[in-house]
Amino acid sequence: MTMAYASADQRVLGYLGRALSLELSAVQLYSTQARLTATWGLTEAAERLRTEAREEMGHVERIIARLLALGAAPNASQLRPVRLGANLEALLQEDQSFEQELVQLYTEAAGHCALQGDHDSRLFFTTLLEEEREHARELAAWIEELKRPAATSGS
Ligand SMILES: [Fe+2]
Ligand SMILES: [Fe+2]
Repeated sequence: MTMAYASADQRVLGYLGRALSLELSAVQLYSTQARLTATWGLTEAAERLRTEAREEMGHVERIIARLLALGAAPNASQLRPVRLGANLEALLQEDQSFEQELVQLYTEAAGHCALQGDHDSRLFFTTLLEEEREHARELAAWIEELKRPAATSGS
């Protein structure tokens, strides 16, 4: 029954495929960092990064659901290798550039869907875009916090 899928725009499927690769890479990235910071004894940071990994996994699940709804099989083929850092701030800087990449991808995808009049897909990408923008904002605030002289010591 291929006719049912005739409306699936190839470029939308392309954006979803790239998104799936990046979101899975984000899960790998945040899970690694959670483990790494835990070994550094940064319990609070580790917990925050674990939460982040779970949120990115939620994005993975939504993209898979969307692909299936469009009649396409998920086919992410390339995970981005994790770049390690020497300290928490270095890790967070890496995360921020990663989130910027996601923001860029979803901006482009939503723009394409708007031009095509594909309202459902535009909404799908716009929602993800807003969530990644929020991640980027939270990371920026976290990095600022680290740069401030600590008022209290500890985790
Ligand atoms: Fe995400
Ligand atoms: Fe994110």
